[in-house]
Amino acid sequence: MLRQSDNDMLTRVGEGTPMGELLRRFWMPALLEEEISEPDCDPVRVRILGEDLVAFKDTDGNIGIVDAYCPHRRAGMFFGRNEECGLRCVYHGWKFDVDGNCVEMPSEPAESDFKHKVKIKSYPAVAKGGAVWIYMGPPDLKPEIPNFEWAGLPEKQLVVTKRLQECNWAQALEGGIDSSHISFLHRNLEDLKPKPENDKNKSSADFAAADRHPVFFIDETDYGHRISARRNAGDDYYWRVTQFLVPFHTLIPPQIKEGRDCVGHSYAGHAWVPIDDENVWTWSFNCNPTREFNEWEENFFHPRTGMWGPIDDDYKPLANKGNEYLIDRKVQTDDNYTGILGIPNQDAAVQESMGLICDRTSERLGTSDKAIIAFRKRLLKMAKDLEAGIEPPEASASEIFNIRSATYLADTDKSIDEGSDWLTKTQ
Ligand code: FES
Ligand SMILES: [Fe+2]
Repeated sequence: MLRQSDNDMLTRVGEGTPMGELLRRFWMPALLEEEISEPDCDPVRVRILGEDLVAFKDTDGNIGIVDAYCPHRRAGMFFGRNEECGLRCVYHGWKFDVDGNCVEMPSEPAESDFKHKVKIKSYPAVAKGGAVWIYMGPPDLKPEIPNFEWAGLPEKQLVVTKRLQECNWAQALEGGIDSSHISFLHRNLEDLKPKPENDKNKSSADFAAADRHPVFFIDETDYGHRISARRNAGDDYYWRVTQFLVPFHTLIPPQIKEGRDCVGHSYAGHAWVPIDDENVWTWSFNCNPTREFNEWEENFFHPRTGMWGPIDDDYKPLANKGNEYLIDRKVQTDDNYTGILGIPNQDAAVQESMGLICDRTSERLGTSDKAIIAFRKRLLKMAKDLEAGIEPPEASASEIFNIRSATYLADTDKSIDEGSDWLTKTQ
């Protein structure tokens, strides 16, 4: 449980709040590249950390993310004309470039130099890995963009998507580092029947079903936390190593089916980017650092209809709070644990059911919540340090984010560090 003051600090992300200021020190995925794919495309609304913004790609392909409101008399820039290297407000024609400079002010006399005195708020933006990243912190502290392996992979080895989640970012993230819930929330009832110990075709689901109270090891690292869940698997241990990377990224352990290593070396991950205090974009990716996806994988990971969907044109899940996630009680009796179809829908149902902002003052945490306690402690410390003038060292250390998650079986006499080369940094 948390004190009310700490819960407020953890969850509030507006300008001037301790957590809001901390998150603004990091580059964040703000929108998908596909949302502004062409030069002079339609501008799109972006809301992030409670700020309303508009994104556009100019005639030369440069990306601008500017205030949603014109600095003249506050008309909405969403209605603007994106033309000849700038976004023009349609009320009186003031035009702004991607850096926020006012480049034309046709409503003022030609001899006026007023336009040189006016800027629209704008933030640096960079396209990488299918996302447009934004930096909203102090300009003189702008770091390198974090070096995530997935974001640097070729197009055919990566799928990136996002979906709206109607709750605070922190409780959504806490689901992503909660390795124990896979033995329950996401189970098909068939998987709950343990297979014989000597069955050679066991999958991740079988191992998770066979031992439902894993032992957790949380290692504090330079990038965040290495969260290792160890389950008994006959003569071996079954390890799932989830990575938490500050401030809101995770790498999910791959699935194993047969054998002793990750299947095809494919892994996934999330970023939880706050829209405001009560909504979050849940970003998801699937990647394979060693080869292109095959056709089956392209379908399975499809950004709209695949495993993280299905979502509509506005990236809102079709199964959502408004329709009880399409729960089917017969399916819950006969087929799966929740009666809800799809892993992200199951996650959203329980995370959103906690309320828009989870009341952590009345929780009862158990031993399986170690990773969640560690996450809160770390983020609160970072936010408090920043309030005291100590900058987060992680924000300016791009290379520390170049790591992977892992799943493997290892002899019981081996430590986690001996278990898999795959776990180590990617270069
Ligand atoms: S309000 Fe935008 S130009 Fe007047
Ligand atoms: Fe989950």
